[in-house]
Amino acid sequence: MGIIETQKKIRRLLDDRNAILLAHYYQRDEVQDIADILGDSLALSIEASKTTADVILFAGVQFMAESASILSPDKTVLLPRRDAGCPLANKITAEELKKARAENPGAKVVTYVNSSAETKAHSDICCTSANAVRIVNSLENAQTVLMVPDGNLARYTSQFTGKKIIPWKGFCYVHDNLSPEKVQRMKDENPGALFAAHPECRAEVLSMADFVGSTGGILKFAGEADAEKIIVGTEQGIMHQLKKQNPGKTFIPASDNLICEDMKRITLDDILSSLLGMKHVVAVPEEIRVPANLALSRMLKASK
Ligand code: 13P
Ligand code: SF4
Repeated sequence: MGIIETQKKIRRLLDDRNAILLAHYYQRDEVQDIADILGDSLALSIEASKTTADVILFAGVQFMAESASILSPDKTVLLPRRDAGCPLANKITAEELKKARAENPGAKVVTYVNSSAETKAHSDICCTSANAVRIVNSLENAQTVLMVPDGNLARYTSQFTGKKIIPWKGFCYVHDNLSPEKVQRMKDENPGALFAAHPECRAEVLSMADFVGSTGGILKFAGEADAEKIIVGTEQGIMHQLKKQNPGKTFIPASDNLICEDMKRITLDDILSSLLGMKHVVAVPEEIRVPANLALSRMLKASK
């Protein structure tokens, strides 16, 4: 079956099943094109928490589908590929977090949504790359904050708060791999271009950026920036929307290696077979879901 035919079949099945297709900006172009809602992880969590659909088909990675199920336990949440994970989410276990908490009594735990449900369950509040600074500063009575699992996001956030931030040692292999030398080369080759980067990049890279923000933030910046060329320091899936929304501007990937293998696993055929077989259902046991929901819901409340 061709791409268009498969897309049409998926859309028909979504309607039949009263299902909604949520897709992240890092998904394949042909998946993005048929999404009901396309967004960054914050926007997708908000949608998942308020949808009236019976089924949420998540074109993203495991932690995103898990968050949807935590926030909307009465919905059936489908992840088309069981093996679409996020290596960053595995950089801390609930046991390690419990130990770190015990070693830092009095510190509040802010957990990036790129984490397991169990890690979230042991956290005070969650954050995304779009709201990390706001979430940390919303903790009025906390002087010290343990931020897990992404060290780069934690170090970036520490620049915008008076609180002491203790970063965990996790990182995203896609973003952390971008070197300042590579960015400098791209800047030299494209004089006058602005550079936008995701906060999962290293501090040396972020210090070279004209804008730092979530995928949704980068899209907004690109639309408003008075520049013809923008060098993009995040996963290449975002190029599709950047180009679609800004036909007069040129977008240049900061590196050819900015590709998340897990995000790219999901194909249209996977989505089709997921809907046909109503698989793979993502659900979180109640004893983990309830405390994880508290941390996620606190985040959504503090982001308003
Ligand atoms: P956003 O929060 O910007 O959507 O990013 C999610 C992510 O996985 C970044 O690598
Ligand atoms: Fe995880 Fe990095 Fe992929 Fe985002 S880009 S889903 S943080 S591995």
